[in-house]
Amino acid sequence: MAYIVDLRSDTVTKPTKAMKHAMVNSALGDDVYGEDPTVNALESKVAILLGKQAALFVPSGTMANLIAVMVHCNKRGSEAFVGHLSHIYKYEQGGASFLGGVLLSTLENKPDGTFDLAELERRIRGGDLHEPVSCMVAIENTHNVCGGKVLPQEWVDKLGELCAQRGLALHMDGARLLNASTYAGESPARLVKPCDSVSLCFSKGLCAPVGSVLVGSYHFIEQARRVRKALGGGMRQAGVLAAAAAVALDEVAPRLHYDHKRARLLATTIQGLFLKTFSVDVKGQHTNIVLVRLSSSSPLTADAVLQRLAQVCLAETQGDCKTPNDEGVIVKAVCFNPKTIRFTLHHDITDEDLWLAIMKIVYVFKELDAANPLK
Ligand SMILES: Cc1ncc(COP(=O)(O)O)c(C=O)c1O
Repeated sequence: MAYIVDLRSDTVTKPTKAMKHAMVNSALGDDVYGEDPTVNALESKVAILLGKQAALFVPSGTMANLIAVMVHCNKRGSEAFVGHLSHIYKYEQGGASFLGGVLLSTLENKPDGTFDLAELERRIRGGDLHEPVSCMVAIENTHNVCGGKVLPQEWVDKLGELCAQRGLALHMDGARLLNASTYAGESPARLVKPCDSVSLCFSKGLCAPVGSVLVGSYHFIEQARRVRKALGGGMRQAGVLAAAAAVALDEVAPRLHYDHKRARLLATTIQGLFLKTFSVDVKGQHTNIVLVRLSSSSPLTADAVLQRLAQVCLAETQGDCKTPNDEGVIVKAVCFNPKTIRFTLHHDITDEDLWLAIMKIVYVFKELDAANPLK
C-alpha cells in the first residue's frame, strides 16, 4: 500500500463536516419556482459579496460560463472574444458554439493571463454585413493554464473601459475568484467592478461538492434563469447543495491563503534544487497552482514524470522516501502539455501531506534529471 497525495486539482476535496451538517439541516423548497430559501439566501450572499444586483445558482462552472455567453450573445451571428488559453475556449467542448451558436474568437494570452488590448480594439467588428457582431469579451481570474495567475487589476479596469466604450459585455470566469482576491488583498467586489457578469465555483478550492454561481444585473440574471432552464440546469431542492456552498464561503474561503503558502513552498523547493530539467516561475507564483516546466532540451515528457511519481520503487521504501509507517508515497498531478506539469494545492492537503509530496517530488526529479541529460 502506498500513501497518495492527490495534487491533480482543487476539485478533489471532500465536503467538510460543517457542510454535511448544513446539507442535512437546511430549509428546502423548489428552486425552479424560486422557493428554496437556502438557494435564495446563497444567491443574495454572493450578489452582495461581488457587488452586483443578482445571482443565480447553477450546477457547474461550465454551465455558468455558457449561460453568460448565451445571454450576452443572444442574437445569431454573435462573436465572443476569449483568450486562447482560457477554460471557455480549451476545456468547455466549444459549448458556446455547439449550443449557443456563438463564434469564439481568440486573442493570444500572455503568460500573465492578459491579452493585448490594442489587438482587441483592432478586431472589434465595425458592423460590416459580411462579419459577425462582436458582443462580449471573457477573461479568467485566476488564470488556470497560466498557473493560477491573478490578472493585473489595472489591465482589467482598462479592458472594462474599452468594453463600455465599444458596447461589449465583459464576463469574468472567476472559478477561482476568491483565490485572486486573497492574493490581491482586495475585495472580490473590487476585482469584478468592471465586469457585467461573473461566474464563481464553490467546488474548486472551496470544498463544496457541487455548484457555481453566476452574478450580474437583475435583467441579466432574469435572462440567465431562462437559459439555465433550457440547458437543464433548473434544480429543485437545490438548497441541499447551496447549503454546502454557503459554508464554503464562510469556512473555507478564509483559509485559501494556506493553500497559497503551501504552493509557494513547493515552488521554491523545486526551484531551489537548481535542476537542468525542471523549472518553476517562483516570481509568478500567485495562488494555489504550481506549474513545473520541463526543459525543451530534455528527452523527458510530462507524462513520463507523472508515471514515475505514481510508482514506488524498492529503494524509496528501503531509504528515506517513505511515510513514518514505512509506506511509499505516490503524488498525483496533471500535465497541461508535453512539457508542463500542474500541481494544485487545496484544503484537504495538510502540512504532513505537503512534506511527503515534496519529499517524493524531490526524489523523483533528482533521479530523472540525473538519468536524462539534456540533448
Ligand atoms: C477556470 C475554470 N473555469 C471553469 C471551470 C469549469 O468548472 P466545472 O468543472 O464546474 O464545469 C474550471 C474547471 O476546472 C476552471 O478551472
